[in-house]
Amino acid sequence: MPHLGLEISETGSTRQAPSTTATPVLSFENVAIEYPKRGRVPAFRAADEINLNVYPGEIVGLVGESGSGKTTLGRAAVGLLPIKSGTLISAGVDISAGGVKELKSLRRKAGIVFQDPGSSLNPRMPIGESIGEPLLLAGEAEGKDLDKRVQELLSSVELPTSYRNRYPHELSGGQRQRVGIARALSLAPELLIADEPTSALDVSVQARFLDLLQELQQKLHFACLFISHDLAVVDMLAHRIAVMHRGRLVEQGTRDEILRSPKEAYTQRLISAVPLPDPVAQRERRESRRAGL
Ligand SMILES: Nc1ncnc2c1ncn2[C@@H]1O[C@H](COP(=O)(O)OP(=O)(O)OP(=O)(O)O)[C@@H](O)[C@H]1O
Ligand SMILES: [Mg+2]
Repeated sequence: MPHLGLEISETGSTRQAPSTTATPVLSFENVAIEYPKRGRVPAFRAADEINLNVYPGEIVGLVGESGSGKTTLGRAAVGLLPIKSGTLISAGVDISAGGVKELKSLRRKAGIVFQDPGSSLNPRMPIGESIGEPLLLAGEAEGKDLDKRVQELLSSVELPTSYRNRYPHELSGGQRQRVGIARALSLAPELLIADEPTSALDVSVQARFLDLLQELQQKLHFACLFISHDLAVVDMLAHRIAVMHRGRLVEQGTRDEILRSPKEAYTQRLISAVPLPDPVAQRERRESRRAGL
């Protein structure tokens, strides 16, 4: 498990913070989101007064305890949930004003990777078809051209191209999650929402997956909202971090501001719950990763 404080000097010095003066790729402005009343269950406001920007090429970590509203924000950002009030602009599409046409165009510009790599893939579809489906539906590629694009996508997530004929159940959890990311990136989105993409993976697979995501992001420059309850994971990946608590964003800042000098009592509590880094284990981990293990 990557611990908080891992390789600060290493990653911190090499990772440049993207510009926060450009037009954001994702912008929540005073957004509220409600789950509607159902029978006797009253409407529930799962997010309120949300102000959050994600800039081009930036990875923003969204953290907070279970039930705080992280998935709610992630789903709203790709148009899977309507918003109650405020303004939400995602990849240039105003979701708050959203008609069907806007939402459809958003599908090409924003991808999402879900927590459970199994449930997000069609079990009856060979993974090559799952990866190529968005390209086919968008009319971007077909036939031989599509096959080629699928093979490139498989290689980009480091899966053998021969795997395209396999079904999801014939893959490991980590491999399935790579298929999920290949599919999400197939249309070269401006924005990727990653909702706890590693929480179903074991520790070593998780580290490799995060490295891969980081490499892809540096190559393709998509903006990313990375949702996680694991502070050590966002410490590895995120440029900035937003902290959610009971449907509100209680604090935002750079990775170091949030993880190393948090201002809000809630963030301080969240961070104090993370195990302290063990310097020896840290060094071993670093060395084994350098050796490509
Ligand atoms: N479909 C729904 N209908 C009603 N309430 C919902 C629905 N989905 C989620 N909620 C409620 O909204 C709140 C936020 O849920 P959400 O899934 O966004 O939390 P989360 O931060 O992603 O949690 P976790 O870390 O467990 O994934 C919770 O109180 C949850 O019970
Ligand atoms: Mg969630």
